[in-house]
Amino acid sequence: MAAKPFLTDIQTIRRRAREHIERGAVTDGYQADRETVIKILNEALATEIVCVLRYKYHHYMAAGIHAQSVAAEFLQHAQEEQAHADRIAERITQLEGTPNFSPEGLLTRSHSDYVEGEDLVDMIKENLVAERIAIDSYREIVQYLGNDDPTTRRLMEDILGQEEEHAEDMSTLLEQLGKKGEPAKSAPARGAAKKAPAKKAAKKAVKKAPAQKAAKKASKKTASKVVKKATR
Ligand SMILES: [Fe+2]
Ligand SMILES: [Fe+2]
Repeated sequence: MAAKPFLTDIQTIRRRAREHIERGAVTDGYQADRETVIKILNEALATEIVCVLRYKYHHYMAAGIHAQSVAAEFLQHAQEEQAHADRIAERITQLEGTPNFSPEGLLTRSHSDYVEGEDLVDMIKENLVAERIAIDSYREIVQYLGNDDPTTRRLMEDILGQEEEHAEDMSTLLEQLGKKGEPAKSAPARGAAKKAPAKKAAKKAVKKAPAQKAAKKASKKTASKVVKKATR
């Protein structure tokens, strides 16, 4: 019995590569269902875009005594989600697909939600939920791809690893901030983000610090009332 060859003979591979040269990275040996992979990747792309928007919003709206470090963490995550979106879009084009950047239907395509959150703790919780959704759906994508498209699988494995780090970061922040009650800006009006960039918010938070100490002491009064009083 003849031994099973490990690879299709090199002559055949070379001939096929020349025949379909206009198909770029997609060769006849590509085993996955290309249309489905592109659809899945466009959903992952939408998920990343929604994550960028949510983290950016949180970055600009973060306020409170821990705002500076938390806002910086939100910004870093926004930038990493943007990098994920770019890598996914690039892979879609390699597969001869069209990356869908349309705002129309973005939330429907996205796996995770866009939730603004009422205060700093809420924001962190919402990000943690979104990261956990991304982790589960990306793990499923990795399993679906298996050995049919190892390049896309490796890409998604890499992104999955970073989403797990993001979830861990949010979980650590939650532990650090403790239970709900971290003084933060109340639910902001839409369009207010422009007026309160993170740097200004962080400066404000530093100025407010003595008042917040007073707020801690006065356990029966709400923090916001004391802050108002102390700054009068
Ligand atoms: Fe991401
Ligand atoms: Fe993430």
